[in-house]
Amino acid sequence: MKITTASAPGKLILFGEHAVIYGYPCIGIAISKRISATVQQAARDKIITPSVVKSPFVEEALKYFRQKYKVVGQVLITTNGDFSHHVGLGSSSAVTVAVIKALSQFFNIKLSSREVFDISYKIVLSIQKVGSGFDVAVAAYGGALYFKNGGGVIEQLSISQLPLIIGYSGTKADTATIVKKISQEYKKNTRFAPIFSSIGNIVDTAKNTLVEGNFEKAGKLMTENHRLLQELGVSTKKLNEMVEAAISAGAYGGKLSGAGGGDCMIALVERDKQNSVMAAIQKVGGEIVSAL
Ligand code: MEV
Repeated sequence: MKITTASAPGKLILFGEHAVIYGYPCIGIAISKRISATVQQAARDKIITPSVVKSPFVEEALKYFRQKYKVVGQVLITTNGDFSHHVGLGSSSAVTVAVIKALSQFFNIKLSSREVFDISYKIVLSIQKVGSGFDVAVAAYGGALYFKNGGGVIEQLSISQLPLIIGYSGTKADTATIVKKISQEYKKNTRFAPIFSSIGNIVDTAKNTLVEGNFEKAGKLMTENHRLLQELGVSTKKLNEMVEAAISAGAYGGKLSGAGGGDCMIALVERDKQNSVMAAIQKVGGEIVSAL
C-alpha cells in the first residue's frame, strides 16, 4: 500500500513582525521542531490529528488539493508534531504545508517550493483571514528568509546558525485578533506609520548584520525592535520581564517573536552564557522551549 510522509518546520520571526503586514520586510528562520503528515490509501477520507481535536487547516488542505488537482481516491491523513500549537511557532502553517507536500507526493504531482507556498498561503488565509504568509513561507522553504507581505519577496538568506534561546511566556496569543486590532488602530492613529518605518529600517540593517555574522550588533537590533513593538502596544509585562532578564544575564539582545500578546520571546546569547540566561528567564516565570 502506498504511503507518503512529508514534514515542515515551525518558525521564529527575528525582525519585522507587524510591520511586514504594511509592506516592510521581515526576517525569520525555520526551527528544528517540525510537523509531519502521512497520507495513505483508505476506504473513505479520514483525518487523524492526535494533538488537536479538529484541524480546519488539514481539512481545508485536503479539500483545496482535491478541487485544484481533481485527484481520485480516498485517503487517510495522519499528522504528528514535535511542538505544541500553544506556543505560537507557526504550527498551523507547518501542518498545512506538510499536508500539501504529502498529498502532492502521494498523487505524484510535482510542486516547487513557490507552488507549495502559494497553495498553502491561500488555505491559511481562507481560515485566518489575515496574515503576511511569512509562517507559510518558512514552512515551505525552510532556512532563513527575508520576506515581504504575501510572498512579494521570498529571499533565502545564507546565515550561520544563531545561538538563540526561545522562552514561552505562558500565555497563548491570538495572532489574528492582535493583527486586526493593530490594523484598525493604524487607520486612526498617525503614530503607527513611523514605528513601522523604523522597524523596516531595522530589518534591512539586520539583514546585512546577520549575513556578516555580527551577533553583538544583531542582538542590539533585536532589542531596538522589541522597544518599537512595546511602543506599538503588542508586548506584555511578562514578555518585557523575560527580555530584560535575558539582557541583564548577558544576552546580546532579545525581543518578543510573533504577534505579541503572549507566546514566545527570543534572546541572542553566546553559548557560554546560555545557562545563566535560561536561568534568568525562568526566574521571572518564563518557560524555556528550546536553546539553539
Ligand atoms: C505573527 O507571527 C507575525 C505578524 O507579523 C503577523 C503576520 O506576519 O502574519 C504579527
